[in-house]
Amino acid sequence: MSISKQVKRITTHTLQAMKEKGEKISMLTAYDYSLASIVDDGGIDVILVGDSASNVMAGHETTLPITLDQMIYHAQGVVRGVKKALVVVDLPFGSYQGNSRLALESAIRIMKESGAHAVKLEGGAEIKESIIRILTAGIPVMGHLGLTPQSIYKFGTYNVRAKEEAEAQQLLDDAQMLQEIGCFALVLEKIPATLATKVAQQVTIPVIGIGAGGGVDGQVLVLHDLLGITQEFKPRFLRRYANLYDEIRNAVNKYVEDVKHKDFPNETEQY
Ligand code: KIV
Repeated sequence: MSISKQVKRITTHTLQAMKEKGEKISMLTAYDYSLASIVDDGGIDVILVGDSASNVMAGHETTLPITLDQMIYHAQGVVRGVKKALVVVDLPFGSYQGNSRLALESAIRIMKESGAHAVKLEGGAEIKESIIRILTAGIPVMGHLGLTPQSIYKFGTYNVRAKEEAEAQQLLDDAQMLQEIGCFALVLEKIPATLATKVAQQVTIPVIGIGAGGGVDGQVLVLHDLLGITQEFKPRFLRRYANLYDEIRNAVNKYVEDVKHKDFPNETEQY
């Protein structure tokens, strides 16, 4: 009889305990089985099936076009590849705004059809009813404030948000409200580091930043940016840990050469 190694899964409670101990939380996106397995094996705490799949997987300019069915497809592969990390899935644009019943239906579809562990929604006061309704079904919700890419056409640019006092105060109020209604964590995207630190000190739930400085409880990046697969995207907050664009391109180049020069396959590579 084989003894399978038991892996202790990360839950929303694990993340809360990490915040309380001052242990930083690591989070990355993934959109498919193969890369999710590697990211999980690399020791990540949280995998986000982000609607950034719309950009990096489908090549769209914004996150708006991706559909609920497409998000579920990505999430299914990720869940199959993950043994330890908490898997959070973005509710896509049009699947929750302005209609709490639709929001609940969308969140239930994600949980039921993908096996993911939580959902993420962008926004504050304007989507409060949707979040409350999802929470009543026992589905953990992660909030997302600051630069919320689904609202790009309202903002007009991807510049830093909440630099002005009024927007900063609204963000602090929204963060407090998200905690009070029961969100288990919060993403803050592209806001001044001092404001993000203030939010992380004000709320007791974990605050995970992207372009929000080091004073928060954890960090998230888009996997394809960190791996250097995307090339054009060069915001100040991005640290590249590999240059896979060149690695993959060179491997493909070498393969093409070997095929053309009849170097592949050789005698040991055939039957
Ligand atoms: O969709 C996404 O990748 C995200 C992260 C940038 C937080 O929401």
